[in-house]
Amino acid sequence: MEELEELLKQYNIAHLADIELAPWSEQYCETPFPKYWQITYQIMSNISPNKRVIEIGCGQGDVTTIFCHLGFTKVTSYEKDPLLVINAKRRLKDLFGRKDVISQGEYPVRCHTECDVLVLVNCVYDELVNTKVGYKNLLKDYYKHAGCPQYFIMEVIDSSYIIEDKVFPEHLRLSRKDVVEMFPNCLIQSWQTYIYPQNKKSKTLYLIVKK
Ligand SMILES: C[S@@+](CC[C@H](N)C(=O)[O-])C[C@H]1O[C@@H](n2cnc3c(N)ncnc32)[C@H](O)[C@@H]1O
Repeated sequence: MEELEELLKQYNIAHLADIELAPWSEQYCETPFPKYWQITYQIMSNISPNKRVIEIGCGQGDVTTIFCHLGFTKVTSYEKDPLLVINAKRRLKDLFGRKDVISQGEYPVRCHTECDVLVLVNCVYDELVNTKVGYKNLLKDYYKHAGCPQYFIMEVIDSSYIIEDKVFPEHLRLSRKDVVEMFPNCLIQSWQTYIYPQNKKSKTLYLIVKK
């Protein structure tokens, strides 16, 4: 893991202009990388690299590098912002010679693709929903659209985060009970990735595994 962190850190430091477009990528200019990245790395290290991966909202591909580094060959990472897509494609080609990974589009995309591992981390937006039921249904729809994969790595804002915040309103904050209700036939593990007030908000990453 440290080897990839160092590789990506050096790449990001050499491409600081990319950060203007994707301010969250600044966290990948110094090590250790954020907890959600490290936990995603650990989880993916325990999954066979012949599994099919879909990533929703890859930005400029900082998490996507994990799949390439670990040798996953069947990866589709969706990003809706065409400018970020250009940076992500460049990054994966420069670092891994991969041109087949990044796909421009807003998930769920029209063409139907299934996977074994669905990844949605550091990607919470309220543009499409305005109720908690709506948000839970949106996440479940993503999962169903991917063919109800064996693994779903899903990071969400915690219900324990109770500060007024217009960017992450109350209906986007989920408890463990919410997640268990959403995926009743699954084993669920979780890790706290951000904790308010040390961080700007509290977040948990869930590993949802089909029984
Ligand atoms: C905060 S960024 C994080 C990027 C990446 N996950 C990371 O941690 O480095 C979230 C990205 O998801 C993209 N996005 C959000 N919803 C999406 C969707 N439904 N389909 C494709 N891209 C999406 C946004 O354009 C944004 O670039």
